[in-house]
Amino acid sequence: MLDCVQLLHFHIGSMIPSTSLLADGVTEAAQIYCELVRMGANNMTVIDIGGGLGIDYSGSKSSESDVSVGYGLEEYAAAVVESVQRVCDKRSVKHPVICSESGRAIVSHQSVLVFEASFSGSTTTNNNAALSTLLGLQYVSDSEGARADYSNLCAAAFRGEYEACLLYIEEMKRRCLDEFKEGSLGMEELAGIDALCDMVRKAASSSESVRNYHVNMSVFTSIPDLWGIQQVFPILPIHRLEEKPSVKGMLWDLTCDSDGKVDRFINGESSLPLHEIREGEKYYLGMFLGGAYQEALGGLHNLFGGPTVVRVSQSGVHPHSFALTAAIPGPSCGDVLRAMQHQPELMLETLKQRALEHLREDTFLTAEAVTAGLGHSFNNTPYLVVASSPSSVMVENL
Ligand SMILES: Cc1ncc(COP(=O)(O)O)c(C=O)c1O
Repeated sequence: MLDCVQLLHFHIGSMIPSTSLLADGVTEAAQIYCELVRMGANNMTVIDIGGGLGIDYSGSKSSESDVSVGYGLEEYAAAVVESVQRVCDKRSVKHPVICSESGRAIVSHQSVLVFEASFSGSTTTNNNAALSTLLGLQYVSDSEGARADYSNLCAAAFRGEYEACLLYIEEMKRRCLDEFKEGSLGMEELAGIDALCDMVRKAASSSESVRNYHVNMSVFTSIPDLWGIQQVFPILPIHRLEEKPSVKGMLWDLTCDSDGKVDRFINGESSLPLHEIREGEKYYLGMFLGGAYQEALGGLHNLFGGPTVVRVSQSGVHPHSFALTAAIPGPSCGDVLRAMQHQPELMLETLKQRALEHLREDTFLTAEAVTAGLGHSFNNTPYLVVASSPSSVMVENL
C-alpha cells in the first residue's frame, strides 16, 4: 500500500508570521516525508506545503503582529526550499517537487471595497437646529439647575476644557430627560436642549478633530474579520488625495449593531485622517487587501447582503488601461428576505393591499405611486441609494 503514496500534504495555518515558524513546520514535514520513503513509499515525489503565506496588512513588516509578516515572497520560498533540502540531503532522499496552496497571498490584493461616507458630525448648523437651540437656551434661563450646568459649561469652554464641556452637557441633558419623564418639561424644550447638546458636542469634537463618519456599508458583511478577530485592513479616502486631511474620523456602518464601526486602523490609532465632507460632493473610501476570506465569511447580518460587484480587467497593451467587464448588483431587499425563508412576493402583495385599503382620498399619494414605491423598496438594495448613485461597491481585479 505504501508504494501508492505519491504526495505528502500539510497546512501549518493561516497566516504564518515568521520564517522561523515556517522552517520549523516544513522541517518536521520533510522528516515525515523521508520516514515514509524509508518505510517503502518509493513513489512519493511531491511535498505540498499548504497555505499560510502571509500578507502585511499593517505595512509594519513585523513578525510579532497578527496583521503583518516579517518576510517577503523570496524569503518565504527560501525558507521552504532550504528546510526541505537540508532534511532530504541529510537522509539521502531525492529532492521532492514542492508545491504550495497559497490562498490569502494570491487573492487579497484582487479586491477593493469602495464605500461612501454619507455624512459626518459637521460643525455647520441649519436654521431649524439654530431655532431649537434658542428654545434650549430659553429653558436654561428658566431652570435653576440648568442655569448652574450652563454656567459650568461656559466656564469650562472658556478654559478650553472640552472633556469637561461634554460632561456638563450630558448632565444637563440627563436632568432634562428626568424632568420630561416627570411631565414638567415639554417636548419642544427637550428638543431644544438636544440641539444645544449637539452643538456643544460638535464644537468640542471639532476641536479634538475626531468625528463620526457614517458609511454606506456593513462591517459584518464586508469586513467580518475586523469585528470577529479584530483584524485591521488598510482603509483610506480615494478622493482628494492631493488635499491634506484636516479631520480625524471613526467610521460607523449602516447596521443597528453598536459593534458596527471601524475604530482600529493600521496606524494603530482609533481614528483615520479624513477630509471634511463637502455638501453636494461624493466622498468615497477604499478598504484594501480584503480579497481573502472577507466576502466569503460575511453573512446577512441585519439583512445587508453583499455589495454590488464590479469586475475590472486589464485591457489593451498599456499596463494602466483597464475595462469594467461586469457589474453584478448586490442582493435586493427581496433577495435577502427570501434567503431568510420569507416570501417577499407575498409580503409585497399583502403590504400593497393594506396600503391601498388605507389610502385616503384627500392625500396627494396615488395608488400607482404607493404600488411603485413598495415594489421599488423590495427590488432595491438594502444599502442607501440616493437617486442613481451606487451604494458600496466591491471592485474585483481579475
Ligand atoms: C488545506 C489548506 N490549504 C490552503 C489554505 C489557504 O491558506 P492561506 O490563505 O493562508 O494561504 C487553507 C486555508 O486555511 C487550507 O486549509
